[in-house]
Amino acid sequence: MAAAATCIAVVALALAVLEPGARGLDRRADFPPGFLFGAATSSYQVEGAYLDDNKSLSNWDVYTHTQPGKIMDGRNADIADDHYHRYMDDVEIVHDLGVNSYRFSISWARIVPRGRLGEVNSAGIAFYNRLIDALLKKGIQPFVTLNHFDMPHELETRYGGWLGAGIREEFEYYTDVCFRAFGDRVRFWTTFNEPNLLVKFQFMLGKHPPNRCSPPFGSCSSGDSRREPYVAAHNVLLSHAAAVRNYRTNYQPEQGGSIGIVIAMKWYEPLTNSTEDVRAARRARSFEVDWFLDPIFFGDYPREMREMLSSDLPNFTSEEKKLLLNKVDFIGLNHYTTIYAKDCIYSPCDVGTYEGNALVYATGGNPQIGKPTAVGGYYVVPEGIEPAVMYVNHRYKNATIYITENGYSQHSSTNMVDLMSDVERVNYLKDYLTYLSSAVRKGANVGGYFVWSLVDNFEWLFGYTVRFGLYHVDFDTQVRTPRMSANWYRAFLTGDEVHEPRRADS
Ligand SMILES: *[C@@H]1O[C@H](CO)[C@@H](O)[C@H](O)[C@H]1NC(C)=O
Ligand SMILES: *[C@@H]1O[C@H](CO)[C@@H](O)[C@H](O)[C@H]1NC(C)=O
Ligand SMILES: *[C@@H]1O[C@H](CO)[C@@H](O)[C@H](O)[C@H]1NC(C)=O
Ligand SMILES: *[C@@H]1O[C@H](CO)[C@@H](O)[C@H](O)[C@H]1NC(C)=O
Repeated sequence: MAAAATCIAVVALALAVLEPGARGLDRRADFPPGFLFGAATSSYQVEGAYLDDNKSLSNWDVYTHTQPGKIMDGRNADIADDHYHRYMDDVEIVHDLGVNSYRFSISWARIVPRGRLGEVNSAGIAFYNRLIDALLKKGIQPFVTLNHFDMPHELETRYGGWLGAGIREEFEYYTDVCFRAFGDRVRFWTTFNEPNLLVKFQFMLGKHPPNRCSPPFGSCSSGDSRREPYVAAHNVLLSHAAAVRNYRTNYQPEQGGSIGIVIAMKWYEPLTNSTEDVRAARRARSFEVDWFLDPIFFGDYPREMREMLSSDLPNFTSEEKKLLLNKVDFIGLNHYTTIYAKDCIYSPCDVGTYEGNALVYATGGNPQIGKPTAVGGYYVVPEGIEPAVMYVNHRYKNATIYITENGYSQHSSTNMVDLMSDVERVNYLKDYLTYLSSAVRKGANVGGYFVWSLVDNFEWLFGYTVRFGLYHVDFDTQVRTPRMSANWYRAFLTGDEVHEPRRADS
């Protein structure tokens, strides 16, 4: 890019930061009344206190301790953000943002440390009661995830995690305890966070516990990357359906809340206009999104998956199909990026790509589809959120959609000034919201939007090497400091002016 053009672009960015709303339709007023705006976290990523108050070890506690080499910086979330002890301060910073909702997950290992065969842990119940009550006192709606990747290690051992059918009864039991304990105050439940990524990382790529895979996807000591992800997904779907049936039958009539599921959704653009690549983009979407939502809405897996996987894809019995018909009240979408899809049926591709069994190669392209971020494969492509939302809106009959995650990562090694004056994150959020509001104007039924994340935290395989927070966290002192993006979000939500970001050292 020519120097003059760069200069103009920088000036434009600076202005945009100072005047929320100046660049297009990115004001709160562009969203319907009652729209939820929030920020999100998950239990293992922020809570710490991994041995406190009769919690059992989760699968992630054990994995990070026994195989630290699997985590980029070799670290774990024993302490993380110490949110378990600092939750009152964290409710305060949620409140400071001016949001009306906070998305967090419950740690299964805190609630029923040994599963169905053990006791309910009253200290775990008490913690989430305190958190929920503190949020409600500030007028903030709890938006509660029942499973965000972590489960008691004992259950992973007993059932092979989601691979064993016995885990369904365990999940139904654990979620029943949660509905009973918290459902009088929780209006928004989701069963699973990103089950489509969960089973791929666990059973196709073998990078999350229980660390199972087979070539060409990876080399684990055991596993079957062509079959096990689909068996695990089947158990997740039936666990989900059992929890929803229980909620509908025994809790919803009295408690009046709603229940949904959260799917990770990229938008796939065909790499070229060839019929093959256009079909590849559709196929990748089908293997990513329809895989979970088709069974929930239509009672079976999408046709493309049946054709390509044949007997590796489980079947639903007629009784299970009936169970699935309990559907959901809303769909959560975690959307970060758009990527090109290239066909691998009619032309050769690198093996071991994420899209795996769909025979699709996902690539940032050359030139790249958008600016890269600190997480490989995640590019900044704000316009992609609009077709993604429109697609789900059309296919799933105008079901209410919540964007349950959207956010921007920085390398932790970035200098302190740039970490705090996070102009790229501000522009990312602003531009994604602009295209989201465009989908709303085109008739999509969108109920809310959550930034990932409230605070920097333990980012799974990345450990602490990347930062997604609106608030910077100094992990030595646990001090939280609002970034420019936190100040921008507050200004966007309240209509106040944007203040200069406070420096962490001032
Ligand atoms: C932990 O469990 C033990 C044994 O059941 C019990 O005595 C103790 O009070 C529990 N601790 C908390 C904090 O609930
Ligand atoms: C595909 O076709 C559209 C419309 O004809 C065009 O705008 C676009 O640049 C083409 N994309 C590629 C990658 O060739
Ligand atoms: C599912 O049903 C089809 C058709 O009845 C059958 O061909 C296939 O083998 C079954 N798959 C499994 C995993 O049982
Ligand atoms: C979709 O849902 C929204 C919100 O409930 C509603 O306003 C709109 O009319 C619905 N559209 C269709 C096509 O049903």
